[in-house]
Amino acid sequence: MSTTTETPAPGAAEQATTPVLAVEDLVVSFDGFRAIDGVTLEVAAGELRFLIGPNGAGKTTLVDVVTGLTKATEGRVLFQGTDITGEAEHRIVRHGIGRSFQTPTVFEALTVVENLDLAASFRRRLPALLRSRRGVSDDIAAPLERIGLQATADRLAGTLSHGQKQWLEIGMLLVQQPRLLLLDEPVAGMSPHERTATGELLQSLAGEHTIVVIEHDMAFLRAYAQQVTVLHEGRVLSQGNVEYVQHDPAVREVYLGRARDERSGGVHLDVPSLVQEGDDGR
Ligand SMILES: Nc1ncnc2c1ncn2[C@@H]1O[C@H](COP(=O)(O)OP(=O)(O)OP(=O)(O)O)[C@@H](O)[C@H]1O
Ligand SMILES: [Mg+2]
Repeated sequence: MSTTTETPAPGAAEQATTPVLAVEDLVVSFDGFRAIDGVTLEVAAGELRFLIGPNGAGKTTLVDVVTGLTKATEGRVLFQGTDITGEAEHRIVRHGIGRSFQTPTVFEALTVVENLDLAASFRRRLPALLRSRRGVSDDIAAPLERIGLQATADRLAGTLSHGQKQWLEIGMLLVQQPRLLLLDEPVAGMSPHERTATGELLQSLAGEHTIVVIEHDMAFLRAYAQQVTVLHEGRVLSQGNVEYVQHDPAVREVYLGRARDERSGGVHLDVPSLVQEGDDGR
């Protein structure tokens, strides 16, 4: 055996394959109603994973459990192999998990830079916090550029467009250098131009970060998704690439069934174009 062969350090192989996020047999019950009814899934390092499903499927609840906002009734959540089930929200943030909400939660009376500064102060040491600072500090310059808001750095966040506020919120997550980003419907309410910019931003962030994005917009999903997990009634209905889930009969049944109900005045159809009726290859 050659002495130059490199032997990986013990545990290195496992580390390389340990998913960033693993959810095992998760159940979330609200007064007996199982909003999450036995979900198991893994998200690998660097993935851009889309999480879709009809209204009430349990998408937000799943993100709420991962981020400590809602307690699991059964099952576990592992982050990079560490069991974080039931940990407090602030501890989960410190592990390196960032989360955005559908309604941007930026501070409207502060400028873009001040918002980023505030988010960064969370992880700065006290002496750096006490030092009076001017201009844009190093740790927020890169995120500011990344979200494309350099030109609006000194504008009050309240004067930004809806899309720009969403980007600022993503920037406020980035300054905390999270490993895992969970984004709840980031392109809802955005203009087509803003959607494209957001898709490109997410693609550029994937790899370096692991991203789970909840989305209803199917054109957006088709353009930017890598792997897709479809939730339905608290369970994983289908999982795979866009092509695979689009042609999965189980997915087609759920969405086409809803499309029929919609036409007959029934349920609201929130995901209209994942599959098109008559386009099922038969
Ligand atoms: N705190 C709660 N108490 C009781 N029921 C809840 C609670 N939170 C969510 N639910 C219910 O759990 C189910 C899943 O809700 P969730 O918000 O996770 O769905 P979703 O997939 O995010 O839907 P949407 O696409 O509408 O955002 C729904 O039936 C919802 O009414
Ligand atoms: Mg939701």
